Amino acid sequence: MADVDQPLAQEHSLDRDCTTLSRHVLQQLQSFSAEAQDLSAIMNRIALAAKLISRRLSRAGLVEGALGFTGTVNVQGESVKKMDTYANDVFISVFKQSGLVCRMASEEMDKPYYLPENCPIGRYTLLYDPIDGSSNVDINLNVGAIFAIRKQEGNDSDCDACDLLQQGHEQIAAGYVLYGPSTMLVYSIGTGVHAFVLDPSLGEFILASENIQVPDHGPVYSTNEGNFWQWEESIRDYIRYVHRHEGYTARYSGALVGDFHRILFQGGVFLYPGTLKKPEGKLRLLYESAPLAFLIEQAGGRASTGVKRILDVVPDALHARTPLIIGSTEDVNLVESFIQDRARASQEAVVASS
Ligand code: AHG
Ligand code: MN
Ligand code: MN
Repeated sequence: MADVDQPLAQEHSLDRDCTTLSRHVLQQLQSFSAEAQDLSAIMNRIALAAKLISRRLSRAGLVEGALGFTGTVNVQGESVKKMDTYANDVFISVFKQSGLVCRMASEEMDKPYYLPENCPIGRYTLLYDPIDGSSNVDINLNVGAIFAIRKQEGNDSDCDACDLLQQGHEQIAAGYVLYGPSTMLVYSIGTGVHAFVLDPSLGEFILASENIQVPDHGPVYSTNEGNFWQWEESIRDYIRYVHRHEGYTARYSGALVGDFHRILFQGGVFLYPGTLKKPEGKLRLLYESAPLAFLIEQAGGRASTGVKRILDVVPDALHARTPLIIGSTEDVNLVESFIQDRARASQEAVVASS
């Protein structure tokens, strides 16, 4: 007897296999307008960059000149890895002659990079962290990339990219690539958060999870506890709390994308607070914190500096840093409550002594 479910099951799996990233963007926008086509094409180019970088990472231990440091220091004062430079250049290459993106700003470049041939038509800026977690590269652990798309305003004649010094609400799209056991791309254009897996046999990112919602609470706290004595007392209060209560577990990979990805799917909180030496913390607002804040809010979670919503922060410089507390709503609220308690106590102490 014929299996009546068979054609339906086949139809479903074919439909799934055909939901590529570029098609998904058009579906989300419910339009074939020029703007929708542009966004879809931009995502497609980001996917191409991800495939090229993924290919190099997967063979990095075998090819000459893929691993190790370049011997230079970037604008952030951090030693540059060869893979940082490679990935940075890949992003630029895929957008050259594309007519899509006029300007690119990266953690690895002092100043924005212009693609003048694209500027008459493509009024977008791509902001990106080409390799996130680069300390993991040489030991074959997970790394990522983070990106955001913003509209380019003005013509930059007065100041260098000052139109980018606006809050995270101005982002049109944001996402990340995770280079793990499989390569995944997670993005949002303001209509939910969606995850794609690279199918190497097709060379395409295929839809894997749609409209991801972060749980309201999760067991994971993810932070570099080696900084414990560098933090403010309020952060230490929170860590003491999770140590003393059941149901918490620590996970920290050294790559924000990987740690964030776990929390997006399973709940919990990632913290990179300010330290004595770096009161603003380590993470960059435009290339790391704001794009991930956009995603987590789209997934129903929260992102905060501890005292302010990340998406409301206006950067004072292109490479500005912020403390970051991001993840499940209840867990971010809990961290903030310790910060508020300490702030209240110190205000009361000031009042009492005056
Ligand atoms: P990047 O490799 O882009 O410089 O980013 C590294 C970041 C982030 O991925 C990670 O969460 C954090 O730095 C780790 O910093 P610590 O080693 O200080 O914990
Ligand atoms: Mn990074
Ligand atoms: Mn980086």
